[in-house]
Amino acid sequence: MQLMAHRGYSSQAPENTLAAFKQAIDFGCQWIELDVQLTADQVPVVMHDKTLERCTDGAGQLTELTFSELTRYSAGNWFAPEFRDETVPSLAATLQLAKQHSVNLNIELKIYPGDDETLLCQRVAAVIDAAGIAKDQLLFSSFSVTALAVMQHIMPEIRRGLLWETMPVDAFEILENLDAFSVHCHYRYLDEQQAAAIKQRGYALYCYTPNQPLEVEAHWRWGVDMMITDKPHCYVIEETVSQDAVSKDAISRNES
Ligand code: G3P
Ligand code: MG
Repeated sequence: MQLMAHRGYSSQAPENTLAAFKQAIDFGCQWIELDVQLTADQVPVVMHDKTLERCTDGAGQLTELTFSELTRYSAGNWFAPEFRDETVPSLAATLQLAKQHSVNLNIELKIYPGDDETLLCQRVAAVIDAAGIAKDQLLFSSFSVTALAVMQHIMPEIRRGLLWETMPVDAFEILENLDAFSVHCHYRYLDEQQAAAIKQRGYALYCYTPNQPLEVEAHWRWGVDMMITDKPHCYVIEETVSQDAVSKDAISRNES
């Protein structure tokens, strides 16, 4: 069972912080998903929202703060006091952590209306080049076809995955044009036929963000390769429980 920690181990530590990434690594996740955007001074940082309010003790737009201004705020206190020293991490620091622990990163290129996709991609690519991390440890994903197309042009050796809440009618044309590696679908809107078509064409298939294993039991059978989840422990517990059930079943068969 392959699991990807969504925004790090975000049910146990503040999302998109080094603490959440370290907890995902300690838990044994081979993949971590994170969201990347630019600060006012064009530093790629790991943050989901356009504004600071939800996940920091600051306020306002991320794009109006320099990296140095941004890191004056706690990105962990909102979650629990023990994380008060966490700040919004740079992509550079996150790449160093991934390199050190040989964990794979799904870098979601987060585009909000008005963002400059090309600039984000160029700055992300520069940071990746400087990090000296193995390119096969990385995957770009985005809801923005434009951002993925820019990455295809400037960093073709890093795999690309399309994020879709619902698949568009021209999905396979888009995937082909982007020479995509994977399709990342919302687990609620993916159906068995779509999954079969994606797998039949040779793409990896991931689902976001199911936090209850029972909701995606069928999805594994449809061929989904990996779940992107805030709660990897729920899957491990469920797998252990079902393995226990199998062994108990075998014991009772042997005894009868
Ligand atoms: O990569 C899957 C997921 O992260 C996409 O949605 O809003 O959590 O970034 P969001
Ligand atoms: Mg994301």
